[in-house]
Amino acid sequence: MSKSKTIAVAGATGRLGTHVVRVLKERGHQVVAFSRSTGVDIVTGQGLAEALAGVDLIIDTASTPSPDETEAVKFFTASAANLHAAGAQAGVERIVSVSIIGIDESTGGYNRAKVSHEKALMAGPLPVQILRAAQFHEFVELLAGWGRQGDTAYLPVMRTQLVAAAVVAEALVGLAEGPAPEQGTATAPFPEIAGPREERLAKVAELLFAARGESVEVVEASDPSTPDRELMENGGLLPRPHAKLAGPTFTDWLAGA
Ligand SMILES: NC(=O)c1ccc[n+]([C@@H]2O[C@H](COP(=O)([O-])OP(=O)(O)OC[C@H]3O[C@@H](n4cnc5c(N)ncnc54)[C@H](OP(=O)(O)O)[C@@H]3O)[C@@H](O)[C@H]2O)c1
Repeated sequence: MSKSKTIAVAGATGRLGTHVVRVLKERGHQVVAFSRSTGVDIVTGQGLAEALAGVDLIIDTASTPSPDETEAVKFFTASAANLHAAGAQAGVERIVSVSIIGIDESTGGYNRAKVSHEKALMAGPLPVQILRAAQFHEFVELLAGWGRQGDTAYLPVMRTQLVAAAVVAEALVGLAEGPAPEQGTATAPFPEIAGPREERLAKVAELLFAARGESVEVVEASDPSTPDRELMENGGLLPRPHAKLAGPTFTDWLAGA
């Protein structure tokens, strides 16, 4: 095991953050959990300076629930600036954060806001490492819910190499335990993590509803007004050749493997 560190996890109660907290504790690290429910708001900065006292490193997994680009840009630029300023003041070594595979070509919406997030993070002053991940298995429920109208769920055509949040958490903790990047701040191409095989969103949503015993008809529809429609349909969100691929598949994850 690497030397025990005190690590702040921003977004500690989220889909990814809960796994990051668990993995850090399993590996013997001290965890300082940040979320508004623990009294730390990384957008307003409330409680941040106090909570960062004695912290070696920040793993940033916080997110806004809003898919709106303007809202998301505000969230990510403010949170990145606050984590850097308060982190530098507290003597934090670096920030490890997470982004999304394929967003360079994004034209709008949440994914485009993540490009602003990456830029705000890389603006410093602290060294930064960014891991780009595929969509999480855990995210299918939210996507399927957005498209649900009664007993029908309308889902966009989306090719995605879904990955378990637990697998992304292991990779993020691995980065945090490793050495800081030599040049100070990571640059493209960012490391990527994705699941073992490509899936189609509509198909996995069907599996999810079936596993819950819910009788929902899934309709896959290409909507020209969807931000990043072409990216989603043409494989632009799939991992690059340098990506690390790790299980479980969506089916195994659903079965609790
Ligand atoms: N979901 C995916 O499929 C996916 C794929 C690739 C990359 N990512 C990236 O992974 C990261 C985590 O995503 P997720 O799906 O795990 O997010 P999530 O489940 O929505 O969790 C968001 C977390 O952020 C916290 N948070 C929200 N506003 C905050 C604030 N003002 N101050 C402090 N904490 C705040 C939330 O807690 P409170 O509400 O209590 O504050 C929660 O703990 C994001 O950067 C996302 O872009 C996600």
